[in-house]
Amino acid sequence: MTLVLGIESSCDETAAALVDGDGGIVAQRIASQDEAHAPYGGVVPEIAARAHAERLAPMIETVLADANIALNDCDAIAATAGPGLIGGVMVGLVTAKALAMASDVPLIAINHLEGHALSPRLADRSLQFPYALLLVSGGHCQILRVDGVGQYRRLATTIDDALGEAFDKTAKILGLGFPGGPAVERLAKDGDANAVLLPRPMLKSHEPHFSFAGLKSAVLRAWESGEHGVADITASFQQAAIDCLLDRLRVSLTRMDDLPTLVVAGGVAANASVRTALEAFASERGMAFTAPPPALCTDNAAMIAWAGIERLTSPDFAPAPLDLAARPRWPLDPDAEAVRGAGVKA
Ligand code: KG4
Ligand code: ZN
Repeated sequence: MTLVLGIESSCDETAAALVDGDGGIVAQRIASQDEAHAPYGGVVPEIAARAHAERLAPMIETVLADANIALNDCDAIAATAGPGLIGGVMVGLVTAKALAMASDVPLIAINHLEGHALSPRLADRSLQFPYALLLVSGGHCQILRVDGVGQYRRLATTIDDALGEAFDKTAKILGLGFPGGPAVERLAKDGDANAVLLPRPMLKSHEPHFSFAGLKSAVLRAWESGEHGVADITASFQQAAIDCLLDRLRVSLTRMDDLPTLVVAGGVAANASVRTALEAFASERGMAFTAPPPALCTDNAAMIAWAGIERLTSPDFAPAPLDLAARPRWPLDPDAEAVRGAGVKA
């Protein structure tokens, strides 16, 4: 059976995984760098790259040993080649190139966003194209139409912060540590989502794009007013974020109303309240709903290996050349029009 080694190093998770052609995760390891970045309240690129450089090679060795597999038993080596923090991406990609060269196994360069976009098909092998995808992570917040491997049309993106970034900034304001998403979710459980009046940026706008900078600023004002506790602020923030997601999806789906399934992926998709709200939203519209298990939502190498399998089994497959450059920016939909203010997050 097809077997692909996946390597992920685009942000602050160092990860390696072996996945088979049926979507079986044969072995996987993941090391988070939370402790290294926590004192700074966010990911420090230089620290991340150094940590990947120290951890990745022994981790790959361990994953192969866990599965009792030699490198040249693999049909391909799939590595994230962008987008992301360039130092980390280079560590993963150069490691993959060296392994590919030494073992004569083909190299596949994976777009990290494609890893997220196809992860629901790894988790649910019955999920067919096409589907509507909400991709919500620390670096991206997009709504896409997914028609097949490599066939992505972006309908919406953020004009400022990504949603995961808004969770992280909210956590930072409230002194909840890093990464912020899981802490915000935990505290929100004890709060009243209606306690703090927060804005829903872009609400009812005919353009489908997102904006979260104003929400984050409102969280800061609410906290500094001293009138609200942490639980109420996190619950109100989370509800405002969910309202934005549903409103923006409503607009996007009018532009792709033929799709049977709504899919969510990316780190924020690990949030149970977000998942529940999306599931109810999909059901109201008569759409099926799929979300990968939380461990496949946040960064991992199984989704990169899986994207490698999807690529390897595509009719137009060609291995990546060994001089392929890492890409700090790499849009899933290169034809998507530029959005005012979207800058580096497009
Ligand atoms: O996909 P991911 O692991 O990395 C990127 O590609 O960016 O996403 C990380 C983001 C972080 O902003 C983190 O705070 C957020 O996902 N996140 C969550 C939760 N778990 C992770 N946000 C809300 N609730 C969660 N449970
Ligand atoms: Zn990611």
